[in-house]
Amino acid sequence: MDRATLIEMTQDALAHGKAGTMRLAPEVMKVKADIYTDEERFEREKKLIFRRMPLMLAPTAELPNPGDYKAMEAVGVPVLLTRGKDGKVRAFLNSCTHRGTAVALGTGNTSRFICGYHGWTFNREGKLIGVASRDDFGDVNTDELGLQPFPVLEKAGLIWAILDPNSTLDISSFLSGYDQLLEGFGFESWKFFESRTLRGPNWKIAYDGYLDFYHLPVLHSETFGRNIPNRALFYPFGPHTRVMAPSTVLPMPAGLDFADLEQQDSSEWPTEALMNGVWTIFPHISIATFYGGQRGVMISQLFPGDNVSESFTTQIYLSEKPLTEESRAGLHDQFKLLEYVVQHEDYGTGLRQQRALDAGMTEYVYFGRNEGGGQVFHGWVQKLLDTSNDDLHGLFGEHKQAAE
Ligand code: FES
Ligand SMILES: [Fe+2]
Repeated sequence: MDRATLIEMTQDALAHGKAGTMRLAPEVMKVKADIYTDEERFEREKKLIFRRMPLMLAPTAELPNPGDYKAMEAVGVPVLLTRGKDGKVRAFLNSCTHRGTAVALGTGNTSRFICGYHGWTFNREGKLIGVASRDDFGDVNTDELGLQPFPVLEKAGLIWAILDPNSTLDISSFLSGYDQLLEGFGFESWKFFESRTLRGPNWKIAYDGYLDFYHLPVLHSETFGRNIPNRALFYPFGPHTRVMAPSTVLPMPAGLDFADLEQQDSSEWPTEALMNGVWTIFPHISIATFYGGQRGVMISQLFPGDNVSESFTTQIYLSEKPLTEESRAGLHDQFKLLEYVVQHEDYGTGLRQQRALDAGMTEYVYFGRNEGGGQVFHGWVQKLLDTSNDDLHGLFGEHKQAAE
């Protein structure tokens, strides 16, 4: 864990909170409105971003034990995540090598996957271990007919995969040191609580809302935002950005606030106090902490939908501590509120924004100097669309940019 950088960011937020200042981007950014509506660009984004970049597909908490698996769809690709006997996570194309149907559905624990069509059997390591009625079927080389593997990395209690079996991109360098900060959560030992999926507007319209505190006291005035300031500090690490308030109002461990931190030497600051704010992981994840019931995080995982005007967000709720009857109720209420907030306030607004932009009469939208997170995000989206496979590696060679 990179505790020194976590402390540095907290000190920076403290200093800004005290001085009543924030860091502003150099200029207002003007973005062509058709980036949210152009089908052709949407196809390129899916291909050059979602099929080329590592995606955080599941927290460790969703498949903590050997034999646990999770089948899911990501940008039209059926994916199977498994944890082997050796404790290692693997990612595969969830497609039987006989004639292609999915070999697993949902989540569960198993020692092998038996295809539901004709009964071919694969082990958790993806190897084909059984061909039904083998003598009748005829000769095939089972060694060549394992499930197709994707590059995968489990780090900081989160699991990334690249949906391109031939990718040589180094997932670690893509993470740009950000994983060492995320380690501050200790997600390896957190518990999966619940998940659900919501429909929203274009994936970038939806994602913009996770990178901006500007809207909190306005759009969320009826739920949680009324007294929340609209200022944010942005800490980019490669394409990933952490968003923090330069103030004392975001969730902190019970009984602790920034003022308390000032009384202590930074070496004594509890790591939990260094993890607040919103952690976005490019291109499609946001992690935010809540204290309903007990400490929890909501991981929002966004995927482009079937057309440019649609996205789907899976909200995955994790609890730091094991679940009890009592904590379940608190976590449930917190998660329910977040469903309402995102579905009705954020995505309700986003869908109306989408309708208006789809009308095709808006030329530009704007990201203010106070919306640096959105500026960095859109800069990276464009950069990736402009970068060939050959030049991709160089993009992430540079490691973290320290907080200024
Ligand atoms: S498609 Fe899987 S066994 Fe036939
Ligand atoms: Fe919001």
